[in-house]
Amino acid sequence: LTRRRNITRISTGSKNIDDLLGGGIETWAITEFYGEFGAGKTQICHTLCCTVQQSIPDGGLDGGVVYIDTEGTFRPERIMEIAQNRGFNPEDILSRIMVARAYNSAHQELIVKDLGKMIEKHKVKLVIVDSAVAHYRAEFLGRGTLAERQQRLNRFMHNLLRTAEIYNIAVVMTNQVQSAPDSFFGDPTRATGGHVVAHTSTYRIYLRKAGKNRIARMIDSPYHPERDAVFMLNERGINDPAEETSKRK
Ligand code: GTP
Ligand code: MG
Repeated sequence: LTRRRNITRISTGSKNIDDLLGGGIETWAITEFYGEFGAGKTQICHTLCCTVQQSIPDGGLDGGVVYIDTEGTFRPERIMEIAQNRGFNPEDILSRIMVARAYNSAHQELIVKDLGKMIEKHKVKLVIVDSAVAHYRAEFLGRGTLAERQQRLNRFMHNLLRTAEIYNIAVVMTNQVQSAPDSFFGDPTRATGGHVVAHTSTYRIYLRKAGKNRIARMIDSPYHPERDAVFMLNERGINDPAEETSKRK
């Protein structure tokens, strides 16, 4: 309990999602967002790049970001837009984001092994992996390679978790979905990466589209109840739905 008192939280930019997470993204843990294309995973990552840099009273950790981009979807222009609309200086925000483009799974593993130096030098408080499983999924095809893939993925995930614990930083990763045609009830999608990813990520949040809005659901957590939160994507990155924001004012 004493150790856990050192854990801090990063506001996501959406009050609803912060509530879902019990106040924001925790340090000392891996938070996983998964969902189908366009669900908002990359948008959450981009917004966090801005919010983590806020001062502690404003909901940030006054820290830098390491962004491991495996899909080539990091967009500095989008960061600038989000920063501007949230009242930050876009150049200052960009200058504290270290982007590493990972071209294959081995490259991605190398980057994570070397994170320590970077974290200390740049006062990094958040490491993002968008997306964690995509390379493994593309490189290891067929059942014959499954065992090796899961071993490699397991080691990668544990290195991430260890980094989060040693440096008391937050790790956010995204994950894709695969269809589960054998499920008769409910949503026929599940996260990729199998049990390895499911067991290692501390918090798992499932994102889905609901018309113009998006719904986030806490799927797995050692202490949060399983429930839903509504958010939307707009010029501030992620945000609470319009009617709720105006009600609060
Ligand atoms: P994959 O990486 O393909 O699995 O999807 P993802 O979950 O990462 O999707 P992403 O977070 O990139 O969300 C894409 C969605 O964000 C698009 O459908 C757009 O509707 C929305 N979006 C992106 N940029 C903007 C923007 O500037 N304004 C608004 N309003 N919406 C945006
Ligand atoms: Mg994406």
